[in-house]
Amino acid sequence: MPRIKIAPSILSADLSRVNAEIKEVERYADLVHIDVMDGIFVPPTTFDAKFVKTIKTKAPLDVHLMVHEPSDSYIKGFIDAGAYSITIHEEACKNPIKQLNFIKQSKAKAAVSIKPATPLDRIKKYLDIVDMVLIMTVEPGWAGQKFIAETMPKVRELRQLKPDIDIEVDGGINPYTARIAFESGANVFVAGTSIFGKNDRVAAIKEILNSLK
Ligand code: DX5
Ligand code: ZN
Repeated sequence: MPRIKIAPSILSADLSRVNAEIKEVERYADLVHIDVMDGIFVPPTTFDAKFVKTIKTKAPLDVHLMVHEPSDSYIKGFIDAGAYSITIHEEACKNPIKQLNFIKQSKAKAAVSIKPATPLDRIKKYLDIVDMVLIMTVEPGWAGQKFIAETMPKVRELRQLKPDIDIEVDGGINPYTARIAFESGANVFVAGTSIFGKNDRVAAIKEILNSLK
């Protein structure tokens, strides 16, 4: 299995001081997770590429596009703003291969995500081209929801199919649920509330890491 990575999600951070918030966790963050919501694929609207450009950190930016049919120029905006990886949703794109190829051509890491009710079969044809798969462990759209354990068989099957791929889990991740996902085969852990909801964010990350030992 590839190495464990922690990806604090800034959705739960204090956005009025987002760079200070990131600074606090930077040393322990393998990725900084940025949830982009368009008000169409999911009801809320969040960050645009202009906002991403204002983020100053040494940590790679992991951009999660909860966006209906993102165009090449829209995706390029995030890559130009400094995105390291771009995740698109299978359910949001008519032909996800188009977006995945564009991301790869643009030299960013390409990832595909599925919602809790979407079967793994829907993305099996992309597994040879993506760098990472995001198995959503809550319905996309909001922070602070409860981890859906019924998504774990997809993580287990995917790990069997692809021993070396990055498998990211996102939603309701805390030390307890991270352990469950880890045992199923996940190695990239997005956490919003369980990190930025705590006063001591570094201690919160260490707690997650400790649960994976
Ligand atoms: C939900 C987002 C998540 C969110 C996770 O749609 O994709 O990244 O920030 O938040 P928590 O960790 O609070 O479930
Ligand atoms: Zn996310």
